[in-house]
Amino acid sequence: MQQTSSPRKDLLGIEHLPREVIDHLLDRSDHYYELLLSEHPIPQNDLLAGRTVANLFFENSTRTRFSFELAEQRLGGQHISFTSQGTSVSKGESLLDTVKVLEAMKLDAIVVRHSSYGVPGFIAKHVADHVHVINAGDGAHEHPTQALLDAATMRMIMGTLEKKRVAIIGDIRHSRVARSNIWLLQKYGCDITLIGPDTLMARHAAEVFGVKVQREMGNIVHEVDMIIALRVQLERQASALFPTLEEFTSMYGLTAARLAGSKAHLLHPGPVNIGVELDFDAVYGEHSVILRQVKRGVAVRMAVLEWVFS
Ligand code: CP
Repeated sequence: MQQTSSPRKDLLGIEHLPREVIDHLLDRSDHYYELLLSEHPIPQNDLLAGRTVANLFFENSTRTRFSFELAEQRLGGQHISFTSQGTSVSKGESLLDTVKVLEAMKLDAIVVRHSSYGVPGFIAKHVADHVHVINAGDGAHEHPTQALLDAATMRMIMGTLEKKRVAIIGDIRHSRVARSNIWLLQKYGCDITLIGPDTLMARHAAEVFGVKVQREMGNIVHEVDMIIALRVQLERQASALFPTLEEFTSMYGLTAARLAGSKAHLLHPGPVNIGVELDFDAVYGEHSVILRQVKRGVAVRMAVLEWVFS
């Protein structure tokens, strides 16, 4: 949470979010997860009755966007969903004008994804005091609800996050998921190792984040409790950052064979480049908890909406 001049609650990132708030959000997401898994109809929840949330997605999304929409519906709220195509953004309308136009239609919260670092914070500074802002991913900065759903998944499997060993593998440099996960897991004393080629590593990662960094996989899959594999973000790479995808895959790609004998659970935020960072058998194999992460998405976003409005 980054504070604005008003006491309003926003979720702009994990870095400055107190651990007790994260504990609360994970506990509430467990509660909503149990309800969503139940065979009984989900009890009517009117927490967002009479409220409208705008989901502003300036970048593509499947998991985050639809799970926010479902979370808003399940809490009894209304939502409007916005993408740059088909709106006046494609005619050159600025971000601030777009936000002001939507605000004039009486909104209570904005969920925003954007390719630029800091856009949710910028919106939070310019919207009316009663409009909550939630970051759904900004550039290579943060993706707080993804880190929360990853943490909820890991906590459910292992019982605790305290002092676990975690490897984050692949395109760290472009990854907001990596950053939010590092900030979150460090609040629980986790031992984090980043693995990837120099060209895909965040600059000065060891010093900035206080983590271990290694260029080669070595024996890491047998040394950790959790592996977070990252999508190679081909769309963000201004120039080729590794010679060929085949070379990246041979060095850092996880296959069922490579994971054999490991006790680690495998996470990936999705979407997966199958055959690049993971092969099909790794995605759907015994180590994978990737679909459990997706299942967690709605529950975590219900918990976040409940918290900002509480
Ligand atoms: N993990 C994630 O943010 O996926 P989407 O891009 O599909 O929302």
